[in-house]
Amino acid sequence: MGATDEVIARLREEGLARLALIAGAADIESARVALFGRKSPLTQALRGLRELPSDERPAAGDALNRLKDELAALIEARARLLAPAAGPGGRLDLTLPGRPPVIAGALHPLRGVLEEICDIFYSMGFARAEGPDVELDYYNFTALNFPDDHPARDSQDTFYVNDAVCLRTQTSPAQVRIMERNQPPLACIVPGRVYRNEANDASHASEFYQIEGFCVDRDVSLADLRTTVEQFVRRFFGEGRQIRFRPHFFPFTEPSVEVDMTCAACGGAGCGVCGRTGWMEIMGAGMIHPSVFAAAGYPVDACTGYAFGLGIDRIAMLRYGIDDIRLLYENDLRFLSQFRGVW
Ligand code: DAH
Repeated sequence: MGATDEVIARLREEGLARLALIAGAADIESARVALFGRKSPLTQALRGLRELPSDERPAAGDALNRLKDELAALIEARARLLAPAAGPGGRLDLTLPGRPPVIAGALHPLRGVLEEICDIFYSMGFARAEGPDVELDYYNFTALNFPDDHPARDSQDTFYVNDAVCLRTQTSPAQVRIMERNQPPLACIVPGRVYRNEANDASHASEFYQIEGFCVDRDVSLADLRTTVEQFVRRFFGEGRQIRFRPHFFPFTEPSVEVDMTCAACGGAGCGVCGRTGWMEIMGAGMIHPSVFAAAGYPVDACTGYAFGLGIDRIAMLRYGIDDIRLLYENDLRFLSQFRGVW
């Protein structure tokens, strides 16, 4: 045993001395061969284990293998240290240019579009407000003139928390909440996330974003709504787009319209993107229904107002030619990095 201890101590000494000779990355390989190659003293010693009496063999083998692991760890550490400077001579070259850090962070396209739309409305005098995501059925439906048991409630497949509380299916309930606490004149936008119990597919998501907008004053008219929408479309989509109002039904506006814009892809000629119609729907809108004013506690004949609601996801998809809404929620960096530097 004593002799083996001595042999191991000597091998260790020699190994460390050989490691100390490493001056650069180019020396690593020859040191490996010298320490662990077939002819190295360590390998020879391991091979010589066979000749030891069998009761000494396990302890000696164990000690030799531990030495081998120790030296291997030291040489790998040395190799790692020298690798980045593996230039000529293995020296660290401080004159080389650094590697710029990759800046992966950027605004998500939904957030970018949301803020851009809000900026446009700020410049027209609108203020920004918020409403709760978890909403009373009263504000989400009743106060917006959805009668109890009216099929319109089914049209927005609602996630209910209990009979009286749901996840808002639209940002419109904020209209009543804001009017309850503020007197006209009012011009307000309310961006936020909305929830519907839908199966997710290329054009439906169970969570998405809307911006509600409304303006209340004396003598506000449908013409004011039109001018506001035209201004928004020009600022967001650029010059040269036509818009049209198409009659529609919403319980909380009368008259109600859907607003179409000439197709961003074909300019109105008709193509696959717009279903050959030349038009794309961009929002719902209308004149605020007297029942909504009544729910807010406004004297019914004192004011008029318009309201509109637009889907941010939809607007982002139209602008950037995104054909699957799920891309906006999967957080795939290959998709998201395309928007780096846009906002
Ligand atoms: N809340 C409607 C929806 O989610 C969108 C909408 C339509 C909002 C007309 C409005 C409006 O304010 O006037 O489908």
